[in-house]
Amino acid sequence: MALSGIDAVVFGVQDIAEAKRFLDDWGTAPVNIADDRLVYATRDGAQVIVRPLGAPDLPPAMEPGNTLREVVWGVADAAALPAEPRMVDPNGLTLSFRVSQRRAVVVEATPANGPGAPRRIDRRSPVNVQARPVGIGHVVLFAADFAAMRAFYVERLGFIVSDEYPGHGVFLRCAPRGGHHNLFILNRPGKPGMNHVAFTLADIHEVIGGGIAMAQKGWKTEIGPGRHPISSAYFWYFHNPLGAPLEYYADEDYCTEAWVPQQFTRAPELFAEWAIAGGIDGTTRRQKPAIDNSGRGHA
Ligand SMILES: [Fe+2]
Repeated sequence: MALSGIDAVVFGVQDIAEAKRFLDDWGTAPVNIADDRLVYATRDGAQVIVRPLGAPDLPPAMEPGNTLREVVWGVADAAALPAEPRMVDPNGLTLSFRVSQRRAVVVEATPANGPGAPRRIDRRSPVNVQARPVGIGHVVLFAADFAAMRAFYVERLGFIVSDEYPGHGVFLRCAPRGGHHNLFILNRPGKPGMNHVAFTLADIHEVIGGGIAMAQKGWKTEIGPGRHPISSAYFWYFHNPLGAPLEYYADEDYCTEAWVPQQFTRAPELFAEWAIAGGIDGTTRRQKPAIDNSGRGHA
């Protein structure tokens, strides 16, 4: 099955008004706003859909409370649609498939100057005052049955392993060519759930500027900014009224058929080469003193 990426994520939440306030600040664009349904879009047209927790037409939840209820995967054309347009993964999460409604968006990351190798000439680096997410890059799930989830996505849906913590976590991409992972599955026996959903930004400047803007508006950092050695991406995770943290990220590895997957043993320095625990204060623009309660020490 040739999937092209994440077309939409659907959340069930307790407080629709608070979710709306968050998504307005997050930089996604409102497409359709109603009392019982919010639709926001990233720049490439991927959608964030928010419904009341108890909406009768929502797929079942993997876990109590605000969380992800469905992931819509895009395919290139009708011929690539699977026979079943809807499935439930071993975690109990509903997946559906549609001809992708996203459009190709080309965003040039700010080039970096190297000594003797200038790539940004007669041009300043930007200072961003607001992020505008380009797309929905990946979903991360806690797997109640790790082996079953790995087998479902790899063997049944054709996901490709980009890197792996054997028995503990697997980074998967949905196509041979593309970002390092569209899905990361983490072993948490018996407790299925959402770990985070990540939104793609142009570059590190947008991660920093966008994150500071969120902090200024009062949204709390879970952890970040920081950098993942696996996938190479810069990240910043925020608590939010949709469910588990949402992530801004940029500059992840781009993989092709030539990418060589590696196996890693869990270690804190593999989750983050470096990270700021409490985020950056939006007003002082200095590190916010904090204790790391993220639980993300071991990827
Ligand atoms: Fe992530």
